[in-house]
Amino acid sequence: MSFQSEIQRRRTFGIISHPDAGKTTLTEKLLLFGGAIQEAGAVKSNKIKKGATSDFMEIERQRGISVATSVLAFEYNGIKINILDTPGHKDFAEDTFRTLTAVDSVIVVIDVAKGVEEQTEKLVEVCRMRNIPMLVFINKLDREGKDAFDLLDEVEQKLGLKVCPMSFPIGMGYDFKGIYNLWEKNVNLFTGDSKKDIEDTIQINDLTSPELEKLVGDSHANDLRDNIELVNGIYPEFDKEAYLNGGLQPVFFGSALNNFGVRELLDCFVEIAPKPRAKQSEERIVKPEEEDFTGFVFKIHANMDPNHRNRLAFVKIVSGEFKRNTPYLHVRHDKKLKFSSPNAFFAEKKEIVDISYPGDIVGLQDSGNFKIGDTLTEGEVLNYKGVPSFSPEHFRYINNADPMKSKQLYKGIDQLMDEGVAQLFTLELNGRKVIGTVGALQYEVIQYRLEHEYGAKCSYENLNVHKACWVEPTDSKNDEFKDFKRVKQRFLAKDKRGQLVFLADSMFTLQMTEQKYPSIKFHYTSEFK
Ligand code: G4P
Repeated sequence: MSFQSEIQRRRTFGIISHPDAGKTTLTEKLLLFGGAIQEAGAVKSNKIKKGATSDFMEIERQRGISVATSVLAFEYNGIKINILDTPGHKDFAEDTFRTLTAVDSVIVVIDVAKGVEEQTEKLVEVCRMRNIPMLVFINKLDREGKDAFDLLDEVEQKLGLKVCPMSFPIGMGYDFKGIYNLWEKNVNLFTGDSKKDIEDTIQINDLTSPELEKLVGDSHANDLRDNIELVNGIYPEFDKEAYLNGGLQPVFFGSALNNFGVRELLDCFVEIAPKPRAKQSEERIVKPEEEDFTGFVFKIHANMDPNHRNRLAFVKIVSGEFKRNTPYLHVRHDKKLKFSSPNAFFAEKKEIVDISYPGDIVGLQDSGNFKIGDTLTEGEVLNYKGVPSFSPEHFRYINNADPMKSKQLYKGIDQLMDEGVAQLFTLELNGRKVIGTVGALQYEVIQYRLEHEYGAKCSYENLNVHKACWVEPTDSKNDEFKDFKRVKQRFLAKDKRGQLVFLADSMFTLQMTEQKYPSIKFHYTSEFK
């Protein structure tokens, strides 16, 4: 197959949802359709179960599982599908944000009873900012839930999306009869038999046909006709361009657990979802069709086995072909590196591959060379944008609890930060180190890993910080900036890249500071230029 056709047939996406909406179940059903797994239950959820948050063995076990399920690849009708796993647990939200820099589209899963939940809102916002094409799957229709129109309203209002229903439910919960597929113009009857792989679909080209009464009964048939008329009246028609630009989001209804509505979703997905997209680097836009290989690291996974300390760096291929045993330029280090055993990912296993294409993810063994956001090329100096750090939610001083092991401690902190476990800030005033995280769980993970992987001990001390803001002076004369640096010296720190950060202790302080220094911009993410 030619290089160009390899690109055309790839679809790399992520499934995002609030925990428990059905992401794992849907992933598993998609893999079943692709023939990548044989039975339900094969894909393990990598979410951290409630109550297990302080159980380190559980964290380790979960981390182990998530390596295997980080990328799930399979073939469906000649299309190569790569699903990138996104942790649902909110303490690992930053991991998910980073993974979203490597997807070409997403599927958003929403629980029909719970509607739009907090985590979904945050993740969709990130996708919206980046104009990532999104498909919405409303799940658990076999259960009693919200009215379909109310839900569509909620999706539009809370998520700021413009929806376009591609299917519509007939009844719900105990009375769930099936779905009408507006895209394929057929009725899909629900029998509630979860063991079936493929459900019966009945073609109905004309909704006025009395056939409909026979299938779903008089009352449902009439409701469906009214509802579809309303749908056609209220919502825009599907427009592929608008979807691809992030301006329109097709919506499907179904039940992942019952494998219902999943085939429709998948069929539509492979038809409309984008092939690998061009990516902006600091220097220029890079197209997948370009011959020279380029790619970037979006995730680093530590090996928890103390005998094999190597890490696995996940690289998304943006352009060209990635080949085994070929020297590539590590742009940040200005150094050529060769990889003898790059991993490609299939359903639940990884294998060494000789060649990979744009859209694919390769896992590279790494002994500490890589940092999230690093770019690899065939020689060109390029830096991919879009792996930003967000302001953490929690801040603590980190102290060395074993003075004999300070070297190990700093090496450990350094490497864990490269992996993106948390963010490190060094205070301008006294050089003290502050760890910022998205969730409290990370502090336990860091302490545990420093001890077990680096032989170092640490303790924490609370620090009252509301938000970390990246500081950008815009005044050319700089007088205001000098005054700001003098007055706020105690609250200034450098992040790992040496960028100046203001650690504001409250929203009020931040607002007052913004008012006092109008020529200085305060950003919640590290990537603002
Ligand atoms: P997540 O990855 O988004 O966190 O969700 P997951 O797929 O693990 O699903 C969360 C729960 O919702 C699971 O039940 C799962 O079986 C259930 N579920 C998923 N899809 C459907 C659906 O279409 N209908 C119904 N009724 N339930 C659904 P659990 O009891 O938490 O876990 P398990 O013991 O079944 O694994």
